[in-house]
Amino acid sequence: MKGLILAGGEGTRLRPITYTSAKQLVPVANKPILFYGLEAMANAGVQDVGIVIGATGDEVRAAVGTGEQWGMHVTYLPQEAPLGLAHCVLIAQDFLGDDDFVMYLGDNLLEGGLSDLVSSFAHRPAEVAATILLTKVPDPQRFGVAELDNRGEVVRLVEKPEVPPSDLALMGVYLFDKRIHGAVRAIRPSARGELEITDAIQWLVDNGERVQSLIHDGWWIDTGKLTPLLEANRLILETLDRRIDGTVDAASRIEGRVVIEQGATVTRSVVRGPAVIGAGTEVVDSYIGPFSAVAEQCRIVDSEVEHAVLLRDSQVIGIRRVIDSLIGKRSIVQKSDLLPQAVRLMLGDDSQLDLP
Ligand code: TTP
Repeated sequence: MKGLILAGGEGTRLRPITYTSAKQLVPVANKPILFYGLEAMANAGVQDVGIVIGATGDEVRAAVGTGEQWGMHVTYLPQEAPLGLAHCVLIAQDFLGDDDFVMYLGDNLLEGGLSDLVSSFAHRPAEVAATILLTKVPDPQRFGVAELDNRGEVVRLVEKPEVPPSDLALMGVYLFDKRIHGAVRAIRPSARGELEITDAIQWLVDNGERVQSLIHDGWWIDTGKLTPLLEANRLILETLDRRIDGTVDAASRIEGRVVIEQGATVTRSVVRGPAVIGAGTEVVDSYIGPFSAVAEQCRIVDSEVEHAVLLRDSQVIGIRRVIDSLIGKRSIVQKSDLLPQAVRLMLGDDSQLDLP
């Protein structure tokens, strides 16, 4: 069994962060989203993993390296443009050969890992060409939705249906055998110009292959937008164990499940978990509230931060309070005493600011 992780794409819904960085490398609880997928693959015994990369490929290569850290071997598969999930299979064909593989969207997070899924596919009946993972959603109109027969096998897949045939949405995990290669070669681009994986799976069904489904009952998050990204951060922070490796002065209080990494300093401040403070970060005269993940080498001075993700080298100075936010690398949010009293900005394209 091989692995195929998709870490290209445009990431338009997470701009401006994605102008300069891969959305799959945005940290959740201070660990890049992509690493959770790699861990899930490693835990499922998948050791030969291809990663599809796009414009941000160099950054992905630098972060993941050879894959040795997870006991796996990683092959990078550059995609010339984000031409669709089925296009990723098309360009991965030489890497995949005739092997079964698990395909995983690099910006997705799911509870419970991939082990059961991978082992159930390994023991499937020979006529089954694919297994897809589904989850019940309250708003199937927003997803790719599956219609199943009474054995739980796929009859039809529909993208964003006005009248959904079920409330079972496709998640970003798929298991395929070599028959998918014929499908991705046969289909044509959709109206939005992409080779759709739903069309490729439908092609399998239409050509008499069996496609099984499994219903996932844990949480699943597509982190490609701000709100779900903050939600993923919340869920992962809840699972942390308290660990204080940094320096906390006597005037500070650390409450609950908090990680303070080596080299971080907390001075005259309150950190209320679940929260994580990255290595080398300084927190002074501040309050860090629940569900905050502050990356490495940040500075938070005379401020309050809650339910937010701060990327490395960012600073928040004199602000009460920053909530529900994602702050990019090296950004500075600060109070100024300059007159006239006004908001002064240097914002990247597509930034969003909600001022009181
Ligand atoms: P999406 O989130 O569906 O697409 P996107 O990354 O282009 O984002 P947006 O809609 O905000 O512009 O992609 C799911 C995952 O698959 C994500 O990790 C990116 C990856 N991907 C590729 O690697 N190649 C592709 O051609 C596409 C469409 C996505």
